[in-house]
This record gives sequence, structure tokens and C-alpha cells, in this order.
Amino acid sequence: MDNNKIYEEFLAKDKAAELGGGEKKIEKQHASGRMTARERIEMLLDKGTFVEFDKFVTHRCTNFDMQDNKVPGDGIVSGCGKIDGRQVYVYAYDFTVFGGSLSITNANKIVKVQTMALKNGAPVIALNDSGGARIQEGIDSLTGYANIFFQNTIASGVIPQISAILGPCAGGACYSPALTDFIFMVNEKSHMFVTGPDVVKAVTHEEVTKEELGGAYTHNSKSGVAHFLGNTEEEVLMGIRELLSFLPSNNLEDVPPRAVTDDINREDERLQTLIPADPNVPYDIKELIESVADDNYFFEIMPHFAKNVVIGFVRLGGRTAGIVANQPAFLAGVLDIDASDKAARFIRFCDCFNIPLITLEDVPGFLPGCTQEHNGIIRHGAKIVYAYVEATVPKITLILRKAYGGAYIVMSSKQTGSDINLAYPSAEIAVMGAQGAVNILYRNADEEEKEKALEEYTANFANPYQAAEKGYIDEIIMPRQTRKKLIQALEMTQNKIRVNPHKKHGNMPL
Ligand code: HXC
Repeated sequence: MDNNKIYEEFLAKDKAAELGGGEKKIEKQHASGRMTARERIEMLLDKGTFVEFDKFVTHRCTNFDMQDNKVPGDGIVSGCGKIDGRQVYVYAYDFTVFGGSLSITNANKIVKVQTMALKNGAPVIALNDSGGARIQEGIDSLTGYANIFFQNTIASGVIPQISAILGPCAGGACYSPALTDFIFMVNEKSHMFVTGPDVVKAVTHEEVTKEELGGAYTHNSKSGVAHFLGNTEEEVLMGIRELLSFLPSNNLEDVPPRAVTDDINREDERLQTLIPADPNVPYDIKELIESVADDNYFFEIMPHFAKNVVIGFVRLGGRTAGIVANQPAFLAGVLDIDASDKAARFIRFCDCFNIPLITLEDVPGFLPGCTQEHNGIIRHGAKIVYAYVEATVPKITLILRKAYGGAYIVMSSKQTGSDINLAYPSAEIAVMGAQGAVNILYRNADEEEKEKALEEYTANFANPYQAAEKGYIDEIIMPRQTRKKLIQALEMTQNKIRVNPHKKHGNMPL
């Protein structure tokens, strides 16, 4: 055979491999409103950068006459490429091949990408669309999942791991995404559940649609399993690109800074009146975050879940910072179980990846009630303090208004290791709010005495000065200066070195 023939043969095989399950299956995939694995990778990565691995891998299963049904690539498209010029590793389940089901051979392809990403310090992105374990392979398929979970766990905290759910994701298959740092879902097109509606009905007699049980909105708003909700696959893929722009490639690198055009000394007069004098009147913390961020841009994470705490990334002076903020506009910004989980996990993510933390505090306390107590607010609330104390990245806290009791302590107080603690003149740093304190101390007093005590308490305790006198607050600042002061604080702390005592790992209250 001459070389030309050899090359032609290769090109023909290569082209056939790119068709996955074939034209008909591709049409079906498109008809369901979903892209193919290759189209997704093409859209996700910088143009022309995809390098594919293992294109000719086939399964080795002989059960159910599977030896007569082999597709090159075996239902996973995997390799590496670039996003904004930075290296990433990627794999996508190809639903056109045996419903994207997992075999031991395509699991090995995934593990190869995971291993290479870890070895080379680059993020790994998983595009899920799969019917789960390949039924014909039995235990081999389960072994494949276990191998993937193992790599997910070992790579956690070393490289960012991002999952997109773009179709079905059921059973144990959910646990790989769950082990990664962020999950994106597409509205009405993607579903995640450990057991589907039929099993739910058989076991608990509940009737539920798959959308209600494990649709994108359910996981973004109720369960807190997912972090981002896109209306289309394109929105999700663009969201992944944007998320990566805020992250370093691995835990030994810093986030590449961006050129700043927004004046770092910019003041915003609107902030002088954003926070109402009456502590019971709400306001939207996102207005403050957007006001101070470079180009007024806030990349919010989990915007639909536990809205009483707001988390996400901003750039300040061109550098990424993680924001953890109480949201007075929702449940008065109170801390509850879901808010604790949301905040603690984000704090730990930022700490893994050298992203400084900015805490914006206006919190009346922990949410009272049997539901919260019986579901373990003690255990969940403890996660916040644990995560903050453990975090060695620069930590900056700005108290805007209420900072009462235990909530004051856990929201990155000086004593729990915060580096720079700022307060507005409107800050109220106290054991509890004035009304609550008077109700306890003056339980048996008449109305006039109570009124007087309330005024005294407000004047003496509902302010930042007691804390400032003791050095617990480093600086009281005017609201209009917030952007400049936060950037200064980030600069002051950018070379911070703090190392926790050596240990295998701590025992976080999970
Ligand atoms: C092998 C599978 C498959 C699977 C789907 N297919 N799931 N093949 N193993 N798990 C095949 C179908 O036979 C079909 O092949 C093709 O993929 C497309 O599937 P359809 O059913 O036609 O598609 P659709 O109507 O869109 O439904 C998609 C689906 C459904 C909802 C995912 O296929 C489904 O319910 N599949 C089974 C899901 C499941 O129970 N998985 C096992 C979970 S247990 P043809 O040749 O007809 O096109 C599990 C344990 C993991 O995953 C534990 C890890 C620790």
C-alpha cells in the first residue's frame, strides 16, 4: 500500500469516528434540542484548539452480542484545548452512542483526561449527557464510575473541576458532578436524580415530574446541588468560559490579573445613602457589590439558592476576589442552614485557589425555630466559622450595619482570623439588637423605662466605636470610599503568609 492510501484510510476512519452513533442519532439529538458532544466542545473551546485523545477506543464487552456493536470513541469525546488562551482538559458524553452510557473503556478515557489535568495543573471540564452505567457491562461500568470519583476527589482543591449537565444524569452518575466544584444546568433540558420519578413513585408513592424532582431550577433553587442555571446550552458553555476567567489554573497559581480601566480611587456618592438608618429597613447588597467592583461587574454564584447570603466573584483593581455578603433584602440577611452551607463551601473553594475573601456583613443573627434547630443549624452554622478560620487567603471584612452575637463572630471577625476589619459609621457591633437586649434586661420595667433603656443601649452599643476602641475594627470608613478601601486592603494583604499546623486534614462539621 502506498502512503496516500494509508492516509486516506486513516482519514476515512477518522471521519467515521467523528460521526459517533451516526447521522440518525445526531438528528434525534438535535430534535431534542441538544447539541452533540463535539458541537459542545467546539463551542466551549477557543476556535481550533481542541486536541482529541482516544478517538479510536472501543469497548471490549461481549455480553448481549456487544462485540458486534462497536463505535470508535465509545461514547466519550475527550482531550484538551484552550479557553481564553489557557489550557483546559475536557470530556463530553456522546448521547448518540449507547445513550452516552458509561463503559469501563470510556471511563478509562475520562480518567486519562482527569489524570493529565491533575499532572499538568489545568482545570477539567465535564459535559454530562448520559443514561448512566452501561447496563450491558454490569460491574465493569460501576468500576469505571468508582475510578472517576476517585480522581475527582484526589484532584479536589488542586485544579478547578467544572461540570455541566446537558441532558440526563441519573443514579450514581450524579456523584461525579457532585464531587466537582461547580455544576451548571440547562433549563428544562437537564435532569439529575439519584432515583427517577418511577422509583420515587414505587417507593414513596409520591407523584413527581422529572423537572420537579431534578430539573435545573430545582437544583439551582431548592437543593443547592447546582450553582448556575442557563436557558440554553450556549449560555451554559459561555458561563463556564467566564467562570474560568476568575480562577487560577491550579492551587499553586494566582488568577491572571486583568488590565484595569476603572479608577481604583473611584468614589460612589450613592453608597452614602444606600443603607437605611432604620435597622429594620432592607436594601439590596448587590447594589453595593456592583458599585465597588471593577466595571460594576459582579459574577454571582448560586443566585437562586439561600438568597439571604450572596456569593460570587468580582475584580478589584484587576484581581479576582470572592465576595460573601449577607443580603438584608431576603429574610433580613439572617443565617440559616442553607446559607451556612452555601457560604462555607464557597469560602473553602476560594481558599483552595488563592482567591482573597471579602465579607460584607449586615446580619441580625441565626434563624430561630424548631426546623432550623432540628435540622442542625448548630452543625451547619459551625461550617462557616470553620471555613473562615481554616482559610489562609487574605480575609477582609466590612461591617455595614448589623453584626450581632454569634453571627458577628462567624462572619469573619478579627478574632477568627480576619486580616483587615473595616466598618461603616452605621455599624452596630453588639451582642444583640437594642430591642432584644432591652426586652431581656428590662423585662419587668414599665414602658417609659424601656424606652429610655432602648435609647441608652442604642447610643452606647449600637455603633462601631466599642469594637474600634478595642482594635477589633481597624478602620471606620465612609461608604463612598468603599471601593478604594477594599482595594487598599487587598494590596496590604496580597503577600500574606499564614500556614496552618500540619495535619492529615481537619474534621469539619459536615
Ligand atoms: C446502555 C443505554 C442506557 C444504559 C440508554 N441507553 N441508557 N444503553 N446502558 N444505561 C441506550 C438506549 O437503549 C437507546 O439505545 C439509546 O441509549 C437512547 O436511549 P433512549 O431511551 O432511546 O433515549 P431517551 O428516550 O432520550 O431516554 C434517555 C434515558 C433512558 C432517560 C436516559 O434511556 C433511560 O432511562 N436509560 C436508563 C437509565 C438508567 O436506569 N441507567 C442506569 C442507572 S444506574 P438505542 O439503540 O435504542 O438507540 C447507574 C448506576 C451508576 O447509573 C452507579 C455509579 C456509582
